[in-house]
Amino acid sequence: MLILIFYCLSLTMGLSPLVCGDVTQEKDCLDIINGIYQCKWTTNGCVNMKCELATPPCDQMIYENKACSTSGANCVSVSECSEIDNQTSCGVVKAGGMDCIWDTNCRIKQCSDYDQTTCKESNGDNCIFKDGICQKLLLCSDIITQELCQKIDLDDQCAWINNKCDIFDCKSYTNSNECFSAFSSTDSCFNGATDNSSVKCMSCFSLTNQCDCEQYGLYGCKWQTQTGSCYRQKCEDFEDTITCQQAFDGLTCVWYNPMDQCKSIANANELDRQCDLYVFSQILIFGLIIQMIIYI
Ligand SMILES: *[C@@H]1O[C@H](CO)[C@@H](O)[C@H](O)[C@H]1NC(C)=O
Ligand SMILES: *[C@@H]1O[C@H](CO)[C@@H](O)[C@H](O)[C@H]1NC(C)=O
Repeated sequence: MLILIFYCLSLTMGLSPLVCGDVTQEKDCLDIINGIYQCKWTTNGCVNMKCELATPPCDQMIYENKACSTSGANCVSVSECSEIDNQTSCGVVKAGGMDCIWDTNCRIKQCSDYDQTTCKESNGDNCIFKDGICQKLLLCSDIITQELCQKIDLDDQCAWINNKCDIFDCKSYTNSNECFSAFSSTDSCFNGATDNSSVKCMSCFSLTNQCDCEQYGLYGCKWQTQTGSCYRQKCEDFEDTITCQQAFDGLTCVWYNPMDQCKSIANANELDRQCDLYVFSQILIFGLIIQMIIYI
């Protein structure tokens, strides 16, 4: 604590340089100033450290948010795989945050560069081993886990239907409960049947004219004139307590006082549970502080 106070005082009184460029004498040009700036003493005085001022091997270094790579007898900063000219560096350095690989030159690593046992992911792409090669995952039907199925962002919307991953389509649900709980990352379904003997599982997005769209207003469908499309309103779209309570069927949304916002009842219950946990943890921390004060 005392050290920290002296440190802050010395900073405010100008006793210690704030950045590399403030340093005038070699002895003050330390490796790190203020715990942030990495500096180096050169013929131009004390300057910010960069890859070009380092000496090889430099493959694991990062200066000024850029990775360093070995190039001949020097270090260079690289932001793309193609800028790396040393084969060893190519396999180690993450240029621009990307994994690189050497074939005739250094390039970005892709799914096809992995074998069956390592085929999982490559530079943010999900990979799958299929037809004897590791390739980029493109089809919902190639996904085998529910978790990945529900979060992945492919050209098709995927959804977990009958224990497998498939293209999201409300029409695939034949049971009313399953229909109401079906969703993809951008769409959700409801049972629009008017009698209770049949199930007509559908989504607002599938309704292409204003008349059909408004007919299902009870389920939150609303016509958007600008785009000429039907979308599904969410509880969050209702901005006062009365329209919130009355939204849809009157049983879906609730005005959530702690956030002054309209929320789905399920969502509000979840928030309440998290809130209880938070209050509990705060009481624990408060208790600990009191304990510490007593001991000191
Ligand atoms: C490549 O980099 C390594 C260090 O990672 C170094 O030992 C080697 O000499 C470099 N090779 C060339 C051709 O620059
Ligand atoms: C709905 O189903 C129940 C039985 O589950 C039946 O008693 C009722 O008559 C049905 N209502 C309509 C409108 O079909």
